[in-house]
Formats: sequence, structure tokens, C-alpha cells
Amino acid sequence: MREDLTRRGFLGAAGAAVVAGVASEAALAAEGKEAPKGGPIKIVGLSCSPRPGKTTAAALSVALEAAKAAGPNVETELVELASLNIPVFDPAAPGSADFEKVAAKLTDPKVAGIIVGTPVYFSGMSSLAKAFLDQCMAMRKNNFALSGKVAGVLAVGGVRNGGQELAIQSVQAALLCQEMILVGDGKPTAHTGATLWNQGDDISKDELGLATARNLGRRVAEVAARLVGTTG
Ligand SMILES: Cc1cc2nc3c(=O)[nH]c(=O)nc-3n(C[C@H](O)[C@H](O)[C@H](O)COP(=O)(O)O)c2cc1C
Repeated sequence: MREDLTRRGFLGAAGAAVVAGVASEAALAAEGKEAPKGGPIKIVGLSCSPRPGKTTAAALSVALEAAKAAGPNVETELVELASLNIPVFDPAAPGSADFEKVAAKLTDPKVAGIIVGTPVYFSGMSSLAKAFLDQCMAMRKNNFALSGKVAGVLAVGGVRNGGQELAIQSVQAALLCQEMILVGDGKPTAHTGATLWNQGDDISKDELGLATARNLGRRVAEVAARLVGTTG
């Protein structure tokens, strides 16, 4: 699978480009690897925690690192909703300038995959995640602007079995309404998504959770690259 990603998956699209976060041709040549001929794909991690830089963002960083390592042509970016103005959805009111900015980032054609991260709040997603996903009605109305992008979901809870899977599934249900292509954490863990345990605002000791985060990031990048490779 990984070989597919580095060789076949990326070949075909036109125009080699070297951008931040993408291995350079020289570095690849030094490792004896073939330089990618396709343009880069981008995977965005979207943190729906109201606490910037805390465990949800940390877990997403782990997933994005694995996504980047999955192929020489993967670019990543972490977007945090914390401190942005993402209002509760009101059908009679416009969204917000902050929502528009994040929406523009996510709907960029270069973005082939999105990893949504949420803290577990009473066995579900955070209210910030729900507000954001409801605002995404705008993308659905805009000719399903997220359609065909790969999506993976990650949840961090304060206890080992605090409802991470329920939270993940509620986010996935909303993403399905956007015609996104859902994947779980890849093998060998291979379940719903990444499930992490915050132990004192620290996820570094949660080896199982970190493994699911890495497997999710890699899986999103692998599937995204395959789709880009086969469709253009
Ligand atoms: C309102 C609220 C409800 C929570 N409910 C749960 C829960 O049901 N299960 C759980 O495991 N953790 C629960 N937690 C703990 C958070 O999920 C956990 O601390 C998480 O790591 C916070 O993410 P952050 O560090 O990105 O803010 C809750 C926290 C808050 C503030």
C-alpha cells in the first residue's frame, strides 16, 4: 500500500512542485527514491477543541505527521477553531468571516483529505465541532464542495473509554452528508478512527491511542493519494 502511494498513486498528475512540508527531489534522490511527478496533495487537520494547542491539537499533529510520512508528496496543515468565531448555526443568519476563511481552506481543490479532531464532551462531539459541522451546510449548498475528499475522525477523552467512538461516529454521520469519503484508522488497529486518552492534559503515554492517530493519518493520506492518482 505504501509503495502504491509513493510510486503509482502520485504518478500521473502533472507538474512537480516542491512546497513546504513536502520532501525535496534532492532529499529523495539522496535516499535512492524516485522523485514524485505529480503535484502535492494536502491533508488538513481540523481541531474542534475550544482549547488551542491542547490534547486534540496534539493528537492531530501526530496524525498529520504520519500523513506526511506516508508519501513524499503530502503537505499538511493544522487548523484550530479555538478562538475563531464559529457561531451556532442559524438558518436565518449568515455564518461568520472566520467560518468563511476555514471553509475556503477546506474546499481548496488541493486539499484531498481532512482529519477532524474533537474532544469528547459527554460522549459526543464538542459544541464547537457541532457548530462548525452545522455551518458546513454552506458547502452542501455550494454544489457539495467537500464531495470526494477523504475524511478521518479522531476523538480525545479524559478516560480510556469515555465515548470516543460515539463522538467519532457522530462526526462521521455529519461528514457523510457532505458526500465525503470516510476512512477509519488503518491497520493494524483498523477501527472507527483514532481514539485517544488524555491523562492530565498529556496524550504522550497513551501508546494505543497514539498508534490509532498515526494509523488514521497514514490511512487518510494513502486513500487520498490513490483517489487523486486515479481521477486526475
Ligand atoms: C464539558 C465536558 C465534557 C466532557 N465529557 C467527557 C466524556 O464524556 N468522556 C471523556 O472521556 N472525557 C470527557 N471530557 C474530557 C475531555 O474530553 C478531555 O479533557 C479532552 O482531552 C479535552 O480536549 P482538549 O485538550 O483538546 O481540550 C469532557 C470535558 C468537558 C469540558
